[in-house]
Amino acid sequence: MDNENENVADRQQRVYSDVLLDHFRNPRNYGRLPSADIVYEEFNPLCGDRIRIELEISDNRIAAARFVGDGCAISIAAASMLTELIVGAEIAQGEVVSSEQLLSSLKSDIKPSRMQCALLPLEALRSGLEIYRHAQTSR
Ligand code: FES
Repeated sequence: MDNENENVADRQQRVYSDVLLDHFRNPRNYGRLPSADIVYEEFNPLCGDRIRIELEISDNRIAAARFVGDGCAISIAAASMLTELIVGAEIAQGEVVSSEQLLSSLKSDIKPSRMQCALLPLEALRSGLEIYRHAQTSR
C-alpha cells in the first residue's frame, strides 16, 4: 500500500464506523430472491451507482429482503444494514424505516455530500413499496 492509499484508508477508518465498514466488507443479505414480490432498482444520478432491493411479502410483512448493487462503501453498507432492519416489518402503511433510523444504525459521520449514497437503498425500498401498495389497492 503506498502512502496515498494509506491516507485514504486512514481517513475512511476515522469517518466510517466499524459497523459501516463491516457491512461494506461483509454485506448481509446480498443476492437475489427467486420469488420476490417487490423488485426495485434505484440509481444515483450523480455517480451512476445502483442498488436493487428485492423483497418477499407475506401477511403484509417483509418476510425476506435481499439486495444487489454496484456502489460505494456507504451505499453498499446502507443497503446491507437496511435489509437487516426491515425483515419482519409491517408494510401496510407508513414508513418501514426512517432515514434517521438507517443513518443512526450506520454510526458514522456521513457528510451531507454523501447523504444520497446512504439513502439510495432507502429510496429503492420506498419506491418499491409504493408501487406494490398501489398495485394492491387497485386490484
Ligand atoms: Fe455513488 Fe455513493 S458514490 S452511491
